[in-house]
Amino acid sequence: MTTITTRRFLQVAALSAASLLLAACGKKAETPAPAPVASAAASAPAPAPAKVYVVGTDAAYAPFESQNEKGEIVGFDIEVVQAVAAKAGIEVKFVNTPWEGIFNALGQGDRDMVASAVTITAERKGTMDFSDPYFDAQQLIAVGEKSKVAKFGDLKKLKVGVQTGTTGDEAVTKLLGKTSTNIKRFESTPLALKELESGGVDAVVADNGVIIHYVANNPGGKFKTVSDKEFVPEQYGIALKKGNTELQGKINKGLADIRADGTYDKIYTKYFGAPPAKAADAPASAASK
Ligand code: ARG
Repeated sequence: MTTITTRRFLQVAALSAASLLLAACGKKAETPAPAPVASAAASAPAPAPAKVYVVGTDAAYAPFESQNEKGEIVGFDIEVVQAVAAKAGIEVKFVNTPWEGIFNALGQGDRDMVASAVTITAERKGTMDFSDPYFDAQQLIAVGEKSKVAKFGDLKKLKVGVQTGTTGDEAVTKLLGKTSTNIKRFESTPLALKELESGGVDAVVADNGVIIHYVANNPGGKFKTVSDKEFVPEQYGIALKKGNTELQGKINKGLADIRADGTYDKIYTKYFGAPPAKAADAPASAASK
């Protein structure tokens, strides 16, 4: 009797141990697969609300980004990103973001992208990633109609306005020196240009597209522009948080798609009056940068 009981006990014990083991195994097999999002999406057809990518832009930079009378953010960059997003199948929302702090917002994850006529520079590449280039630019000088300035070097002893932390600021800082009190830094490029109009500065150095647009739309300002081959060619890219290769891939694919199907040229022509010069914006030349 005792033996039977013992045997039975052992059988039962072995069985329950085995089932425990099985249960444990089953659990183990399930827990480490933390793809609940993917599996839920696969089994339940109800789509999770799509992520809306937040795009930071300093919307005081016409024709690339500005606010219209209704307060909507509009411009070349906006339309490019919208077209790219449509191709990439992602949703985007633009948030007006002051230039100073725009890259911090990106780094902290408050913005998923920065589309703000951002020049791709080696220094910035240290702290953020970029899409492929989507626009060619160069610094341009704005001066009063009667100014004698004929080249960048002529600004050396003059008061020069720039937007803080831009590539224009960098170029002028290089020419005038880090400690120069003749560099007047402004929170936005239009503010620097207003200061030129009122005589507070002798010149403004900023991206060509913005200066040309401003001068054309402010005939009362009595400006002229001076170009100089000394300014290095620049290219705009969409800035992304460092390491965000997934989004980078989507954007680059979208950019390639809108170039291929003519959407890019259409947007370009809308804003700049003619399609881009072929060699200047060819993705091949851009990719080698
Ligand atoms: N391209 C220049 C830079 O990257 C100026 C860009 C300023 N953009 C703007 N939306 N304020 O430094």
